[in-house]
Amino acid sequence: MIKTDLSGIAPFVKKDEFDSGIKTALKALEALKSGSCRGAGMLGWLNLPERQDRDLLKDIRDTAQRIKKQSAALVVIGIGGSYLGARAGLELIKGENYNVLPKSTPDIYFTGNNISGRHMKNVIRLIGDRDFSVIVISKSGTTTEPAIAFRVFRGILEEKYGKAGATERIIAITDDSSGALRKMAEKEGWQTFAIPDSVGGRYSVLTPVGLLPLACAGVDPYKINVGAYAEMIAQMSQGAEASAVRYAAARHVLYSRGYSTEILSTWESEAVMFAEWWKQLFGESEGKELGGVFPAAINCTTDLHSMGQYVQQGRRNIMETFLTFDPQTTNGFRVPAHEDDADGLGYLAGRALVEINEIAAQATKKAHIAGGVPCMDLRCSAVSDESFGSLCYFFELACAISGVMLGINPFDQPGVEDYKRNMFALLGRPGYEQLRENLLKSSE
Ligand code: PA5
Repeated sequence: MIKTDLSGIAPFVKKDEFDSGIKTALKALEALKSGSCRGAGMLGWLNLPERQDRDLLKDIRDTAQRIKKQSAALVVIGIGGSYLGARAGLELIKGENYNVLPKSTPDIYFTGNNISGRHMKNVIRLIGDRDFSVIVISKSGTTTEPAIAFRVFRGILEEKYGKAGATERIIAITDDSSGALRKMAEKEGWQTFAIPDSVGGRYSVLTPVGLLPLACAGVDPYKINVGAYAEMIAQMSQGAEASAVRYAAARHVLYSRGYSTEILSTWESEAVMFAEWWKQLFGESEGKELGGVFPAAINCTTDLHSMGQYVQQGRRNIMETFLTFDPQTTNGFRVPAHEDDADGLGYLAGRALVEINEIAAQATKKAHIAGGVPCMDLRCSAVSDESFGSLCYFFELACAISGVMLGINPFDQPGVEDYKRNMFALLGRPGYEQLRENLLKSSE
């Protein structure tokens, strides 16, 4: 369950302002529940944890077992919402060094999330001669980056295993009925999972988009859903005390006071990709109609030695959200004692790193507040399959409430199309001739 501590915004926000923010956030939550907000056709994620089909979860688990038996490596192809959630979960739950740790599940390589030939070449080299399978994820089924990567890895599979062998090793996660990927999958007989129509890419981590790749790493999709369901029930039943309502209200009031950048600070290197998922969720949901909070992230204490200077003394338009987890164990690493105290660390000997990290977070928060940065605390229970589900649901809800409070549609991403149109035109895609001419003229 996610808990909030908003005492760190008290010096920056008046109580009546916050109370009025809570009222607006509650109205936004009601608009989501009743489907009277903008983008209401894309609310399929809102009650997803309670509607989750048990047969689907079983199918996901069985498919993951089959992949595990078949393959030592798994290539997961996708970009944006069809990529970040699975990678965030993998690194958070299994660690950022999952691939190089001893395990009984396949190594997982994410690709199709850029257009880098070097990256592609390296993934192919890393797979080497090993048996591998491919999960290709694209809701629209037409996104260029994953489509290029899929063409490459499909070709390698077909060459290695023949057409029939490749068919056994390709799983497509895409729209239920439309798009190029759906059509290809039907024609070729690949196994498929559907992304519900009413769930957009960045809200899709709790569908097969996130659950299948994670299940291949040994994460239990049932447990993720149990965590998401428990979070949903808690958030929907706590009214003004619900942490998603409080967090959305706080960041909205701060935004209206000029704090236009929100930094998510995480305190475990395993949460770096989770922060990337969070950035996409909020950036793509809120950043439209010339407004929205700009989402940024720092990983601490690493980034206190790079971005920390800016946060402490740079432009004062920053609010900060500390995302921390209950420790998995209090008996983890401790600072060793040593007879030589030349490094001056004797005073820390015997103290757990987990405790020192917590104190570093408290110290940082106090310094940042004193430096003029309003700070919010989000506390999640210890990292687990369940708490990952809970955290994803929490942020999806908080983000949707925030978007509704801004009066925008939190579920579309019209701006993403602009670079695509220009790229197609400059690459010479048929149908884009006029735009190509205009672009070339404008750069003369
Ligand atoms: O959140 C979104 O909708 C986007 O980030 C998409 O997930 C991303 O553009 C990839 O799209 P698709 O899944 O259609 O390939």
